[in-house]
This record gives sequence, C-alpha cells and structure tokens, in this order.
Amino acid sequence: MPLTMRSLVQALGVVALLVAANGAQAAGDPGRGKALAYTCLGCHGIENYKNVYPTYSVPRLVGQHPEYLVAALKGYKNKERSHATMYAQAASLSDQDMQDIAAYLAGAPLPVTTTSTGTAPAKVTALCVACHGKDGVGITPEYPTLTGQHADYLARALEEYRNGSRKNAIMQPFTTTLTKADIEQIAAYYAQQKPPLKTVLKRTWWFQSGD
Ligand code: HEC
Ligand code: HEC
Repeated sequence: MPLTMRSLVQALGVVALLVAANGAQAAGDPGRGKALAYTCLGCHGIENYKNVYPTYSVPRLVGQHPEYLVAALKGYKNKERSHATMYAQAASLSDQDMQDIAAYLAGAPLPVTTTSTGTAPAKVTALCVACHGKDGVGITPEYPTLTGQHADYLARALEEYRNGSRKNAIMQPFTTTLTKADIEQIAAYYAQQKPPLKTVLKRTWWFQSGD
C-alpha cells in the first residue's frame, strides 16, 4: 500500500504526541514548582536551619538530582521515611506537584568531577563510591548527591538506614557493618567535597549565579 501524505502526517503526529508526553514526564515545570515550594523555603531556604528534637541540619537541596528529590518526597508520603513535618508536607502533593517542586528546588545540576577533597576513608572506597562517586555526586539520578551536604544530616541518614527507621533495600545492607565512628568519618568526608550542594535562598536569583 502506498504511503499517502495523509497517513504520513498522521504517523508523525502520533510520534510528536509521544515525545511531548515523555518530555512532560521527565522534567517538571520549575515555574509552577516555585509557587508550590513557597512554604518549603521556610526551612530549606534558611542557611544552617536546624530540626529540633533531635537537633540536626535541614538538608540542602540545591544541586540535588530532581529524580531523587521526587523519590524522597514519595518516601515521606508512603512512610518509608519517618519525619512528621515532612510527612505533612508531602502527603498532599501529587506526583506532578513533586516533579515541578523538584525541578525548581534542584536548580542547575552539580558537575561530576573525578577529584576529591581529602583522603577517602577505606570504607567509602570499598562500599560507597560505586554509586555515590568519590566526590559524592550520585552516578545515576536516583542515587543522591552527598557533596557538601551537612555532615550531621548525612550521619543521621546513615544511622536511620542502619537502625531500620529509614527503609531502603539498596542502602540498608551498606550500613550494617558501619560503626558510629565510621559514620562520623564518612559523613565528614562527603560533607567537605566540592562544589557543594546549597541551601535554597529566599529572594536570591541563585539559579543565575553560575557556580
Ligand atoms: C518545618 C521545616 C520544613 C519544611 C516546612 C519543609 N521541610 Fe523538607 N525537610 C525538613 C527536615 C528536617 C528534613 C530531614 C528529615 C529527615 O530526617 O528525614 C527534610 C527533608 C526533605 C527532603 C529530603 C532530602 C534528602 O536529601 O533526602 C526533601 C526532598 C524535602 N525535605 C523537601 C521539602 C519540600 C518540597 C517542602 C515543601 C513542600 C519541604 N521539604 C518543607 C524540614 C522541612
Ligand atoms: C548500590 C548503590 C549504592 C551504594 C553502594 C551506596 N548507596 Fe547510598 N544511596 C543509594 C540510594 C539508591 C539512595 C536513596 C535511598 C532512599 O531513597 O532512601 C542512597 C542514599 C544515601 C544517603 C541519604 C542521602 C540523603 O540525602 O538523604 C546517604 C547519606 C548515603 N546513601 C550514603 C552512602 C554511603 C556512606 C555508602 C557506603 C557505605 C553508600 N551510600 C552506598 C545507593 C547506594
């Protein structure tokens, strides 16, 4: 059967629709995300803001993989992660809301480097670099970046995987052999890597800063 102009146009139309649908799924809309993320900045937009009881730093989100941010929000919503405030924040968000907020909060991606600051602890080389890299930049979008994250937050996360209060089948086995001293050392190591994740800053055009 000869390919008529009409069927060709129809076929191309279907392809264009599929591409558009995939594109919408892959990337959130940072403009819409900005409006939705206003309340988030009350904690995530203040440099060195602390969670109380127990006291540890609110995680930095700028430079993080947006895909991981979405996974983290889903983790609070489905209670794989336990934190009362973050549950309350995430519970009412749709998947699209999460993607849009993540696109806004993540900003520009951190560059993957082959260099690292200081000497990697032996357990980092043995257990962690395969997924989080030597510089702490997660090698896939689902593996979080740890570069320049607050050390006390990283230590808290590792402690929670180890004691099972943060549930993740990939991370849990890597934390069972870590001692408290290992956790402190590993957290300090990844926290000093550069360029670091950053805190979202209110009323600052951080996404234009270029660093
Ligand atoms: C009252 C303070 C507060 C507010 C408001 C808040 N957060 Fe959080 N957020 C935290 C704290 C504290 C943590 C760390 C919780 C933990 O230990 O799991 C956190 C963790 C996160 C994480 C996980 C980061 C990581 O590295 O795994 C994401 C993503 C996040 N928040 C996004 C948001 C978004 C989006 C909003 C707004 C809809 C928001 N937060 C509002 C305090 C807050
Ligand atoms: C096989 C890949 C893999 C390996 C190896 C691995 N991780 Fe992870 N890591 C992940 C994934 C996936 C997550 C996200 C899990 C989740 O959603 O809670 C994660 C999460 C984390 C987090 C939480 C980050 C945040 O922002 O909350 C820390 C900290 C961490 N890993 C540190 C380590 C350390 C330290 C090691 C070595 C002892 C290690 N990881 C080994 C894949 C890996």
